[in-house]
Formats: sequence, C-alpha cells, structure tokens
Amino acid sequence: MSESTSATNGNATLLHAERISKQFGNVIALQDISLDVLPGEVVCVLGDNGAGKSTLIKILSGVFQHDKGRYVVEGKEVRFHSPRDALDHGIATVYQDLAMIPLLSVSRNFFLGAEPNKGFWPLKFFDVKTADRVTRSELRAMGIDIRDTAQPVGTLSGGERQSIAIARAVHRGAKVLILDEPTSALGVKQAGVVLRYIVKARDRGVGVVFITHNPHHAYPVGDRFMLLNRGQSMGTFTKAELDRTQLIQMMAGGEELSELQHELTSAVGAEAAAAEVAEAAEATAEAAEATAETPEA
Ligand SMILES: Nc1ncnc2c1ncn2[C@@H]1O[C@H](COP(=O)(O)OP(=O)(O)O)[C@@H](O)[C@H]1O
Ligand SMILES: [Mg+2]
Repeated sequence: MSESTSATNGNATLLHAERISKQFGNVIALQDISLDVLPGEVVCVLGDNGAGKSTLIKILSGVFQHDKGRYVVEGKEVRFHSPRDALDHGIATVYQDLAMIPLLSVSRNFFLGAEPNKGFWPLKFFDVKTADRVTRSELRAMGIDIRDTAQPVGTLSGGERQSIAIARAVHRGAKVLILDEPTSALGVKQAGVVLRYIVKARDRGVGVVFITHNPHHAYPVGDRFMLLNRGQSMGTFTKAELDRTQLIQMMAGGEELSELQHELTSAVGAEAAAAEVAEAAEATAEAAEATAETPEA
C-alpha cells in the first residue's frame, strides 16, 4: 500500500487532498482522506453506497467545502466556493445527469454555456457552422464517430452521451476530469465505450478521477485505486500492488454480484451473463482463498 503522499513528486501533482474530513450533522461522511492526482493517470475511487465517494468529489469540485484538511491544486492551497471556482482551476466534473439537453443537437450541447457567437449584440447568433466543425474535429480527436452533429443528443445512446461529455470537458481545457459513476447506468458494451474515452482523456495528459462501485470497470483503466468504506480510506494501491481478483475480492459482496448479473442480463442475454457471473464468483472465491492463506498480505 502506498500512502497517497508518496505519489507526490514535486510540482507535477495536479491535485492534492490531505486528510480531508467532512461531517453532515452527526454523520461523518469523510474522515482523513488523502488523494493525489497526477497528469496522465486514472485514479479510481471505489466504495459501496454511502462510502463517501460523492462527498469527496463534491469537495474536489467546489460543491461542498471540507471541514478539516488541506486541498492543494497545482501547488497552491485552495478553498473553492462554487463549481465555477473549480472549473477556473481546470477541474471539470461530469455528473450522472450530464448537464446535456436532450432536444438540442450534439454540437449545441458541445458548446452549451460557451457558444461561439457571430456578430455583435443585439445581432449575435449561434455560429452553427463553426460549432459543427469544432465539435466534429474534437469528437474525432477522441475517436468518437458521430454521423451527424445536428442530431439531437436525446437520440444517442447513454455511452455516446457520456463520451461527448468527456470530450467536451477535455476540449474546454480540463486538467482534472472527475467522473461520478459514469458507467453505473450503462450495460457492459456501453460501459466499454465510456472506459475507452477515459483512457483517451488520460492519454491526452488529463488526470482522471473515476468514481465507481464496480471493480470490473475500474481495474482495466485505473492506474491507482483508493478504496473508501464508510467515509474512511482502506488504502490507495497502485495497479502493481493489487491484482484484479484482489480488487474484486475487496469490493465484492453478494450485492455486487447480483447487480453485475442484472447488468449483464440486460446487456448480453442470460446465458452469457450467467457464465460471466459464475466466473466472477469463482474469481472472488479464489481471491478469498488466497487472502485466507496469507492473512497478513
Ligand atoms: N448533503 C448531505 N446531508 C447529509 N448527509 C449527507 C449529505 N450528503 C451525503 N450525506 C451522507 O454522507 C454519507 C456519504 O454519502 P455519499 O458521499 O453520497 O456516498 P457515496 O457517493 O459513496 O454513495 C452518507 O451517509 C450520506 O447519507
Ligand atoms: Mg454517490
């Protein structure tokens, strides 16, 4: 297990949270949580419902303020008062609801709140041509193939919508991209689409914080993994320190598997799902066995 501070090598660190705590009334939502994010890496924050994942990212993205601890962005201690503050520091957050308008076109949504205008007030109008051109080239740079940028976002799949939200944040210059459960409402195939764009964002040098409760989604893309349990960190591990079965074993209870089964059933049909779940169950059992053999591992 590597303490989060060990990842801090000089001023390359984009985001450094140190012993952050947050309380809601009597509920301690987070206690002494430390996290570093470097350029070009994916840090996964894993934990069950109520673990404190959303509270953590809301602090990082300026929705809440921490009660205790230090929050340092590119070497300077900060205290954000709004998501706008965080955005101005290059920290962009994609929430599950995505802040997209289904009836508007892909390119309209791509520029939502930052429209390229032509002419001067009061004759300003949305520059459709420019918007289409930029949207198309930005999406292509991320490997996203949308046939028609004039098509309403509501006609796209959930995975495509998430991918556009990621491309949009990257286009707007995000240094840190925070994704709160971007794959949890998606089937296996669509989740795969989103995971691919997480990797693309990372390859462009963005530091990605990927929140999920699904170790099957986290493991393939994550460079480091922080496990949260009831507001406390169970440790931060590099991929080298943790293999897939160990991660699954740390995360998986019966709930996780039944949820996975449900997800797989809706996506690929019952037979394949049953096989996958059997495999996951086997992996979990194996990991449990391995841990039992080496209790101090
Ligand atoms: N605004 C709030 N007011 C009171 N309690 C909250 C609030 N937000 C979160 N909590 C509590 O903090 C804990 C962590 O919640 P949350 O960060 O949403 O977890 P997760 O995203 O991992 O499911 C939970 O016990 C939750 O009930
Ligand atoms: Mg949450």
